[in-house]
Amino acid sequence: MTRLTLEQVSATFTEKFLLSGQLGKASSQYIPGGYSRNSLTFGPHAIFVESGDGQYINTVEGHRLLDFHNNFSCSITGHNHPRIREALEELVPKGFSFGNPMSHECELAQILCERIEAVEKVIFSCSASESCLSAIRIARANTGRNKIAKFEGGYHGIGDEFMMSLHPIIAPGMMFPGPETNPIPVANTAGIPKHTQENVVVLPQNDLDSCERILRANASDTAGLIMELQTGAGGVVVLEQEFVQGIREITQELGILMIIDETVTLRADYHGMQGLYGVTPDLVVLGKAIGGGMPIGAVAGRARYFEMGDQGMVYHSGTHHGHPIATIAGIACLEVMDEQAYARLNAYGKRIKDELTQWASDTDHPFFIYGVGSHLGYEITGAGHAPRSCRDILQYSNEDHMQIFAFEMANRGVFPMYRGQITLSEPMVDADIDMFIKTTKDIVTEIFA
Ligand SMILES: Cc1ncc(COP(=O)(O)O)c(C=O)c1O
Repeated sequence: MTRLTLEQVSATFTEKFLLSGQLGKASSQYIPGGYSRNSLTFGPHAIFVESGDGQYINTVEGHRLLDFHNNFSCSITGHNHPRIREALEELVPKGFSFGNPMSHECELAQILCERIEAVEKVIFSCSASESCLSAIRIARANTGRNKIAKFEGGYHGIGDEFMMSLHPIIAPGMMFPGPETNPIPVANTAGIPKHTQENVVVLPQNDLDSCERILRANASDTAGLIMELQTGAGGVVVLEQEFVQGIREITQELGILMIIDETVTLRADYHGMQGLYGVTPDLVVLGKAIGGGMPIGAVAGRARYFEMGDQGMVYHSGTHHGHPIATIAGIACLEVMDEQAYARLNAYGKRIKDELTQWASDTDHPFFIYGVGSHLGYEITGAGHAPRSCRDILQYSNEDHMQIFAFEMANRGVFPMYRGQITLSEPMVDADIDMFIKTTKDIVTEIFA
């Protein structure tokens, strides 16, 4: 067995996805970077798709890849699901862009209210980024305070406030600024106004004492604390249940609205990850899966925080908000994702974690796979444990090994997220899970051969 090198797997990738590379290059003449999402780059370039069906994507080169990426967790029902297609086929002939509401919007809102305890009212938008912005506007309006608290490593879309302290600023291998117990906010993109930075309080993950100290010091002007219970874009870190319960108590005492961003973690459970943890926030942000693959976001939560909106004091609107295509697809998607579907996907997630954890321990490989439900993180790390913070990932994860793993997965017919994550989809069957487990073992073994 020969050891896999980054040079070799990159060369295979470039050759296998040659047309994608060419399309990206041609497209960059008109679109900076070749496509409108920075996050699509998978190593040297994005893999262009021709189509998708069920648990597969078909690339422009004609390769059929088992999709463990699922559009950054969005496509929980896989691709081109018949139930979603039927719903769209029913709608489209009727027209789909009006200056009038359609009834699907209310139906989707009702489903969300029934599933998630904290959700009594819902306002839709076209993306979770927009809904995160609405959430902090609602928090500011209701508290009369300015600042917003977030976690280091937490992603809440592309709003100015949220692009703080997602990644360490400059280059791979750089640490976040400030001590672990007292992180210093840092902008992750050029173009953030200074006054925005002054309004963001950054907290360390899974460190309740430090969070309490920082929140108390800023309480008089902090409107809301936004958090993912398991992070995604900043690297997968599970916020521990006791820690989250502690945050709930502190925010309640200090009058800071707790906003749980379930854009990804709605995957964790029929009632959201907040249901799994038994924590009820003030506001909730939703997105991705609730649109069945169509563009959507929602800010939701306790009815009292939406009263100012009812009175016309907090403005919310958008040409495509509550769009019938997104809401009808979302209804179909959530109907497919009933409690049995969640249980089946989560059992697959557990099987992947259990089998690979046992194997890594038996064979002494520094491979960790962890996470809740059907969105899992993996790291090839010398830490000796799964990461408890984004700083852990940065400090211990072997970037070269992670890249080799991701490229070689794609080379061998499995498409994970580039940044150490996988998500499962409803059409997956036992053979797909077998394939993922076997391919993982093979590649990790060859990395250390
Ligand atoms: C937790 C979380 N919040 C918000 C967003 C932003 O969502 P959108 O891309 O729909 O704007 C994302 C996107 O990945 C996310 O993961």
